[in-house]
Amino acid sequence: MKFFIDTANLSQIKEAHDLGILDGVTTNPSLMAKEGIKGYDAIMRHYVDICNIVEGDVSAEVVATDLEGMIREGEELAALSEKIVVKIPMIKEGVKAIRYFSQKGIKTNCTLVFSAGQALLAAKAGATYLSPFIGRIDDTGHDGLDLIEQIVDIYATYNFETQVLAASIRSPLHIIKCAQVGADVITAPLDAIMALLNHPLTDIGLAKFLADAKKMA
Ligand code: E4P
Repeated sequence: MKFFIDTANLSQIKEAHDLGILDGVTTNPSLMAKEGIKGYDAIMRHYVDICNIVEGDVSAEVVATDLEGMIREGEELAALSEKIVVKIPMIKEGVKAIRYFSQKGIKTNCTLVFSAGQALLAAKAGATYLSPFIGRIDDTGHDGLDLIEQIVDIYATYNFETQVLAASIRSPLHIIKCAQVGADVITAPLDAIMALLNHPLTDIGLAKFLADAKKMA
């Protein structure tokens, strides 16, 4: 399972990268705005800065909602680096844009996915990644993990190459459950990734080992 970090914050990306487990980055316009990035040049520079930290794929989202605009933006983003994955919303014009980019060999991430039907369309169009938002589904009183499991099953049945990228992750438990149901990728905030490190018995055990090691000094 690949680990992506879900942020546009450069120091958090570096921290996850330095842990040695990072396979890529996902961003969205909300995450970019949170970093105070303003204007076309600053946005493009920021994506390049992210690409310079990580080895893997970096999702950069288009903001146009018409086909021509999505293609123009996506091509500009893809020209920044081979690491860029063009992130496209699951709307009618988005499906057409995914098809266009897939035929040109440009990687795509279909975002804002909330149903198996949407997952089928994105895979048929040739999306590289599919981002179902599990946390936002949980917020509605339904289980987002059920959708991940359903899509993983469908894609396996038909050997679709689209990778299931579980997004909108809120906790370390989300990550573990995504691993259990076979998500190809998770994208999570730094605190959810780092929380996987923690166990009180590890801390207690290490304190005891260090105390005993002192006896041998
Ligand atoms: C990532 O690709 C998504 O944009 C992101 O995970 C959404 O997360 P949120 O529901 O916490 O905003």
